[in-house]
Amino acid sequence: MCGIFAYLGWRNPIPILLEGLSLLQYRGYDSAGLAVFHETGLHRFRCKGTIHDLRVAIGDFCPKGQVGIAHTRWATHGTPSELNAHPHMVSGVAIVHNGIIENHFELKSKLLDTGARFESETDTEVLCHLVAAELSIGRRFFDAVRESLRKVHGSYALAVMSDREPDVLVAARNDSPLVIGIGEKEFYISSDVTALLPFTNTVLFLEDGDVALLKRESIEIQNLAGSRVERSTRVIHDEFSPAECHGYAHFMLKEIYEQPFALKRTLSHYMPDRNDLIGLPDDCLEFFEQVEPKRLVCVACGTSYYACLEGKFVLEHTLKIPVEVDLASEFRYRPPLLDPQSLVILVSQSGETADTVGALREAKRQEAPTLGVCNVPGSTLARECDFVFYTHAGPEIGVASTKAFTSQLAAFVVLAVGWSAIRKALAPDRKREIARGLAEIPHLMEHTLKLDSRMRALSEQFSTAQNFLYLGRGPLYPIALEGALKLKEVSYVHAEGCPAGEIKHGPIALVDENMPVFILAQRDHLLPKVLNNLQEIHTRGGQILAVTDHSIESLSCPVVDQLKFPVTDWLLGAFLAVIPLQLFAYYMAVVRGLDVDKPRNLAKSVTVE
Ligand code: AGP
Repeated sequence: MCGIFAYLGWRNPIPILLEGLSLLQYRGYDSAGLAVFHETGLHRFRCKGTIHDLRVAIGDFCPKGQVGIAHTRWATHGTPSELNAHPHMVSGVAIVHNGIIENHFELKSKLLDTGARFESETDTEVLCHLVAAELSIGRRFFDAVRESLRKVHGSYALAVMSDREPDVLVAARNDSPLVIGIGEKEFYISSDVTALLPFTNTVLFLEDGDVALLKRESIEIQNLAGSRVERSTRVIHDEFSPAECHGYAHFMLKEIYEQPFALKRTLSHYMPDRNDLIGLPDDCLEFFEQVEPKRLVCVACGTSYYACLEGKFVLEHTLKIPVEVDLASEFRYRPPLLDPQSLVILVSQSGETADTVGALREAKRQEAPTLGVCNVPGSTLARECDFVFYTHAGPEIGVASTKAFTSQLAAFVVLAVGWSAIRKALAPDRKREIARGLAEIPHLMEHTLKLDSRMRALSEQFSTAQNFLYLGRGPLYPIALEGALKLKEVSYVHAEGCPAGEIKHGPIALVDENMPVFILAQRDHLLPKVLNNLQEIHTRGGQILAVTDHSIESLSCPVVDQLKFPVTDWLLGAFLAVIPLQLFAYYMAVVRGLDVDKPRNLAKSVTVE
């Protein structure tokens, strides 16, 4: 939700800010803006639209100053418009903000009483007025920001400039990520590490309540009370190529195709030498030994939640331990019943999803041990969990998650099989069988990707369909949910994922000759039941798109198409069954002329509730 980028140094800030913003665009893209110093004061460009539109609006303008702040927005308060775009400016104070100021109505009404005038509908403008008011009573810029933040409740990541101190930037964070990049007499501020990597590998993560004063040669951090705090710097080893499309039309397609490679990378960390051996790092095994949980609770949002549903099959089969799965937005407020023997596993690609981070903090409040499964090094989740298990999928830029999902599935298999070495709940032969199967998955994914042209043709055939059903059982049920979510988010076509055994309890009423139905099946103990469901859909005229493994030759009724993926262990079929569904969603969006990487109303990291 919203990307912030800022620069202070010795170069023209505009190209730097635009490059940083482009890398953060996945966080929001309904409007964009930046502010720089020029001649006597602050100069601002804003527009409704994308970074490209902002670039056009700026043209060849070259500022005199070498400091600037920039923002790409995902609207929370106030519609997407130029007036609501950041930076907001009041009396020579400019602010870019990510988060929500929860008491902004109350603060705004007090400010209105003092004669303040507002031009936008945003909560952020309140902050500008607060800082301007503190400056007007003679406070130093840094203190003015700090004092203002003491009056604020809610979440924020901020970069602030003032025309009173043109060589200074102030950054602050609370419940919203913010990272400072450190260069040679220059600093960067960014919502995430990835956007910093083209500029520097040395970073400093701000903690909640931190306010940082950046000058060309120094950085000082205080808490809201004004006491100095020390934060250490970290060097991020960038093993990934820059976030570019590499000849693919969209990041989503690139990331779908990158899955075999991403998975190999995940596995290389945990299956380094042999194909049939999964080895967890010693500190991970020590963590499991210490915790000795009686129950596991997996918590996440969206696609990561579906990975948890899949994880339940894997963990229960392998560890013989009860597993619950919960949506973070529900879990954090229920409140859940936890204890030191409930291990809470929080799964998040970004590690910044507000509800998942909220769930983590609730788990910690109840003294439950926490394990993070996360893709982004140094993210809030990664830093705050008792133990973090990285998925190593590489940066995922497409808003619709694809390679991060399959790497989360791999993380669950690796964790479960690796952990079973201590719990001894799995026969060694079965353990080897799963590990061997997993090692083959990248190769089988490559085969499955050959369905590309068939999925493109089907998307053309069904481009005007208004609704889809996705059905699956057992480990393919979460894949039905994921397939439906993918279609909704990028093609805006309504889709419902459902356990195939549930259709008779309601959803089958939707089925007629206008309803395309994806049915997922593999050769496992549930196959006869899925074939019955297939019949039930056929009888009611539904147009069946069967996604099955290669072993299933004949189906129990005629279908529009049968998309086959290679045969694998029943616990691993999900890795392959999801690929045609990802491709179908992608091509449906393309065929309908939509911007796949910037689906409307969505942002990659949902850092507000
Ligand atoms: C996936 O395609 C979605 N964009 C979304 O559901 C996402 O998975 C969810 O917001 C959770 O994100 P996280 O994994 O970064 O926590």
